[in-house]
Order: sequence, then structure tokens, then C-alpha cells
Amino acid sequence: MDQPRFARRMNGVRPSFIREILKAAEDSGVISLAGGLPSPSLFPVEDLAVCAARVLAEDGSSALQYGATQGHGPLREWVAARCAARGVRVEADEILITTGSQQALDLLGRVFLDPGDRVAVEAPGYLGALQALGAYEPRFCPVPLNLDGGDPAALRRALRRRPKLYYAVPNFQNPSGLTYSEDCRRCITQVLRGCETLLVEDDPYGELRFEGRDLPPLAANLEGRGVLLGSFSKTVAPGLRLGWVAAPRAVLSKLVIAKQGADLHSSPLAQRILHRYLTECDVEAHLARLQDAYRQRRDRMCTALGAHLPSGTSWTRPEGGMFLWLTLPPGVSAQALLEEAVAQGVTFVPGSSFHVDGSGAGKLRLNFSHPTPERIDEGIARLGRALQRLLAPSPDGRRRPAPRKEEIEPCQG
Ligand SMILES: Cc1ncc(COP(=O)(O)O)c(C=O)c1O
Repeated sequence: MDQPRFARRMNGVRPSFIREILKAAEDSGVISLAGGLPSPSLFPVEDLAVCAARVLAEDGSSALQYGATQGHGPLREWVAARCAARGVRVEADEILITTGSQQALDLLGRVFLDPGDRVAVEAPGYLGALQALGAYEPRFCPVPLNLDGGDPAALRRALRRRPKLYYAVPNFQNPSGLTYSEDCRRCITQVLRGCETLLVEDDPYGELRFEGRDLPPLAANLEGRGVLLGSFSKTVAPGLRLGWVAAPRAVLSKLVIAKQGADLHSSPLAQRILHRYLTECDVEAHLARLQDAYRQRRDRMCTALGAHLPSGTSWTRPEGGMFLWLTLPPGVSAQALLEEAVAQGVTFVPGSSFHVDGSGAGKLRLNFSHPTPERIDEGIARLGRALQRLLAPSPDGRRRPAPRKEEIEPCQG
């Protein structure tokens, strides 16, 4: 057969070297600290089974019929009330239920981006957003993160290039685990107020806070200049494929049209099961269990890192979510470390994957939500061995430059 004539936008999509390595390492002996999966042992399987049986018994024919594009009304009302409790005043008709929040990112790209348009993104940034938005061929303007969150001065510089969107994950960011502080939120909303760039605030981890105080979403103070994305993937189960977007009506109506073309609507069966779960089961107790388990796993990982990694290495200590971000000793490349790590039986995602400009070579992302505490210990011990091997003298006897002695401290992202 002749070469299929793919769209131009597929030109930039190549099987990545890193993906190949990670795929090769998919065997049971290898400990993956690379994925972004929640812990399967914490899915509320029994409660969902009861809810599914009730939906099919009491509401089966509607649940199995086509549904409204905007989503199941009672579920939208639940989301609107949850937003209001966090300071974001939206009505149920300003909510669109999506097939995971990943779909919301794709729909936003469809609705807003022409090839060559600019999009400001966090650096490092969520890979799935770079992929979803990248399909619409924008030019990305990276906005570096610092320990306080997004950098308002860097954002101000990026805004001079008039990006249509600023994409941000202010809570327990993927990949860095960093959270925008109260001060940072105030500065960023000030910078965004009065400019024509729309904030896309993605918050799938906000309810997974296991330390510190909840902070209101930036969208709460942007009077219609922001859209807020949420997901049930990390708090209930990703297999439901349900998320939502809260947006001003003018934006929402365009997103609804785009969703009609994409998939007509998200599963009415899954939406009804989820709605029953949210209203008839003890969701707060479930969230508390998740927060507790993830806090313990974060602690376990930080302790293991302290025990097994050499000085010169540092990492973030997230207050929630599923990831932490590690900075390697100067001169050490995460890509080189990955090859050594796979040989030792552990994987992670190198930092350069999360940058649009190939930077981040000395950083990497570790996931602590999916591996059990015992596998976290063993995985970090293996990572430590891999790093020691990489730092050891080469066969010609020459030593690599010794890493600087420094206190373990959070990285700069
Ligand atoms: C920041 C962020 N946004 C969106 C998503 C997509 O989540 P889902 O489509 O399962 O709701 C993820 C998944 O890892 C994520 O980390």
C-alpha cells in the first residue's frame, strides 16, 4: 500500500526514545515510578458496584440511551455546588461534563487555537496538555515555575507575545508537585486581569491535599477570564473517564459544539453511576483515605530518597497529589540515568519530556501514588544504585566531576 497521507500536524509526532525505553521495561520485575496512575487498591469498587446496580435497576433505560452533550444535569449541579464551596461561583449551565479532563484540553485547543497561535505553558508542564494542545500547532511560550509556583515576571514577559491561553496546574502540579502559594496566586491573577489571555486552570489533584491549607482556585478571582478543569480520575477512578470544565457561557457554548463533533456526549451510564456514588456514598471518608495513603507514600519516598541518594541531589516535598520532582547532581543527565535505572529494575520519566524546548535534562519525575510502600523503598534503593554507578569512575580511571555538597532542598522546577 502507498504511504498513507497523514495530516501535517502528525509530522511532529514521533515514537519517543523515552517511551520506547519505558515500554521495554514493562515487565513485572521492574518497579515503575514513571506512570501517573492512582493506587488501584483505593478504588471504591464495592460502592461503585452497588451504585451501578441501582442505576441499572431504577434508571436503566435512560442510562443506556444517548444523552445530552453538556452532560447529566444532576451531576453538573453537583459540580457547580462543589465549585461554589471552593469560591468559584458557577451555575450548572456553565459546566460541561467531559470524557476525562484530557478531553477538555483537546476541546479548548479546537475552539481557540489556529496554527501559529501562542500558548503560555508552565515549564515543566503536563505532558498530556502539551500533546493535546500541540495537535493544533500553536507556538508554546514556556513560563518557568519556581518554588512559589508560576513566576509572575516570566508570565508578564510571555504575555507580551499575546498568547491566547495560559495553561496552569496550580495544585500539586504534574510533574513538579509544586503548588502556587497564596501570594503567587494573587500576583498571577493580577497579571492576568485586564489582559486578553484566557487562563486554563487544570485542577485534577486539588482534592488530594494531605498537608497545609486549601487555597482557592485562581479562576475564583478572574471574573470570567478563566476556565477551570476538574477530573474524577484521581479522586474516584480514571476508568469512568469523567471530568468537567467550568467556563463562561460564551466559551462553554463553543466547547459544547466541539464536543458534539468529538463524541456526542460522555457515557450517560458512567455519569449516573458517578452521580449516585457522589450523593449516596461517603465521599469525604473516601477522600480522607486517599489523602492518608498518599501522605504515607510521599513520606516513604522522601525518607528513602534521603537514605539512598547522594548529596547534590534534591527534590520537592509536595503537599498533595501524586508526584515529586527530583534534581540530579550537576552534570548528570536523567536520560543517561534512565538507561542505568532500567538495568537496575526501576523506571521514572526524565524531565526533558515535560519541556517544550528540550531543557530539564538534570531533572526527573517520580510517582508515589501507584507503587506500594514496599516497592517505593525498593525502587528508590535501585535508583540510588543506578545513580552511584553513573557517578562511579569510568573504566579509563577518570572520575566524573564530584557533585557539589549541598543540603537536600527543594528544586527550582
Ligand atoms: C494535570 C493533568 N491534567 C489532566 C489529566 C488527565 O486526566 P483525566 O483525563 O483522566 O481526567 C492528568 C492526568 O494525569 C493530569 O495530570
